[in-house]
Amino acid sequence: MKLTLRIWRQRGPRDNGGLVDYQVEISSDASFLEMLDVLNERLTGEGEEPVAFDHDCREGICGMCSLVIDGTPHGPEKATTTCQLHMRKFADGDTITVEPWRAKAFPVVKDLVVDRSAFDRIIQAGGYITAPTGAAPEAHSVPVPKPDADFAFQAAECIGCGACVAACPNGSAMLFTAAKITHLGLLPQGQPERYSRVADMLETHDELGFGGCTNTGECTLACPKEIPQDVIGRLNKDLLRAAKKGR
Ligand code: FES
Repeated sequence: MKLTLRIWRQRGPRDNGGLVDYQVEISSDASFLEMLDVLNERLTGEGEEPVAFDHDCREGICGMCSLVIDGTPHGPEKATTTCQLHMRKFADGDTITVEPWRAKAFPVVKDLVVDRSAFDRIIQAGGYITAPTGAAPEAHSVPVPKPDADFAFQAAECIGCGACVAACPNGSAMLFTAAKITHLGLLPQGQPERYSRVADMLETHDELGFGGCTNTGECTLACPKEIPQDVIGRLNKDLLRAAKKGR
């Protein structure tokens, strides 16, 4: 299939950047990132600077691939990371616009690469779990209600890609923060710091320039792991309890 790619090129954080058109010919069996690899091989061969983009596992696990494709984080396929997106989802002759995540808290490093270390700082603010867990106990020695275990596992599926931030009109990282708070706050080991964790993580979230949540729901729709919006309700409840407890 023959395609026109309109790719955001930006030499560095202080460069204005702009969209540049490239013609590519690629098999419909190729993945989106393989298509960019092919383009980059050609650009390198022609002595041009290849397009910088983030990737690592290419299996939907690490959360590194982070492209806004035709205005949608991770592209048109629901519950799919960019690395799992295939060219058969597009039509021959299509023009595809490829941009980086756009958010104040995710400054562009180069081309399609943004700095997502703000997520690491939110995690760091949550601190560690002080409950001594020792060696792995027998699976049923610490009872956890089944609905809590299921919800904790669902929240733990968050891969920290940042699509929720890129999709949110407020640039909020509330879905990400709430997923982390939910998966720790539902399990027995997460109880000792449950309320200080939510207050500290949210304070850091705001300090880093992420916007507030106004329940638009765009985050959940863009999430490749379909983290439900309910996690934000849990965050808000824990935040209220933290305030009542003076932390
Ligand atoms: S490269 Fe790891 S999730 Fe896409």
